[in-house]
Amino acid sequence: MNNNPIGLFDSGVGGLTVLRSLQEVLPQENYIYLGDTARLPYGTKSKETIIRYALQCTDKLMEHNLKLLVMACNTVSSVALPALKEKYPHMDIIGVVEPGAQAACIASQKGHIAIIGTESTIRGKAYEHAILAINKHAKIVAKPSPLFVAMAEEGLIEGPLVEGIAAHYLDEIFKNTNAANTPDTLVLGCTHFPLFKKSIQNVVGNTVTLVDSAQTTAKAVQQLLKDKNHLRDSHDSQGSMRFLTTDDIAKFSQIGESFLGIPLKNNTVELVDL
Ligand code: DGL
Repeated sequence: MNNNPIGLFDSGVGGLTVLRSLQEVLPQENYIYLGDTARLPYGTKSKETIIRYALQCTDKLMEHNLKLLVMACNTVSSVALPALKEKYPHMDIIGVVEPGAQAACIASQKGHIAIIGTESTIRGKAYEHAILAINKHAKIVAKPSPLFVAMAEEGLIEGPLVEGIAAHYLDEIFKNTNAANTPDTLVLGCTHFPLFKKSIQNVVGNTVTLVDSAQTTAKAVQQLLKDKNHLRDSHDSQGSMRFLTTDDIAKFSQIGESFLGIPLKNNTVELVDL
């Protein structure tokens, strides 16, 4: 069981930021990652469609004897967690929303938290509910920021254009004349957004703490495996990584590298049909 892979899926390559964080804390684990690039983006789709796609991705990964499933997508985590848990009641499933919400509550001294994500994530209000479940007095402001997804897919992750878009979304929230009304914490509620950390921090200023749900999810996975005694033996060598995609392998590898932070060899990527 402990040698079985951790499965992750996302609408595309964005979830590789979660895999990257997981690899940092749990390098000895085996991973299998599915990116449904053929149907990206999920963030603009209806709840019903996102749930249907998420179930198909999960069914595919379940063919690989997973020991744990990570929904490495904020959109899916926001709307499809109950459906996945219902279909697979015995599987440990971790989404990125609850770990992100917990980290935001710890980081925020004022309890005033801003969230950015895709349209579906913001519309689903899962982050709000998760934050309010921890701190019922929290003050929350949430804003969809869909252009970041397209920019990340284009490999455009810094520079004046990126800062201009960041200002377009965030100035309204953070350039408030009354400092008491300004959040002190910003949740990057989308797998693509950690790539823009530098630019976003430049725009909101250093007094605002950015919460990256990829890092906090990796810690939640580590804790769960520890608690269940399911960690792969740390004396073993580096674990393996396998990738599945529903569209062009070369494109997945090329764009995926910037998300994963290490070269992604074409021969580790397999084309699958859902
Ligand atoms: N992976 C999605 C998320 O984290 C972003 C891309 C999409 O819209 O599919 O919300």
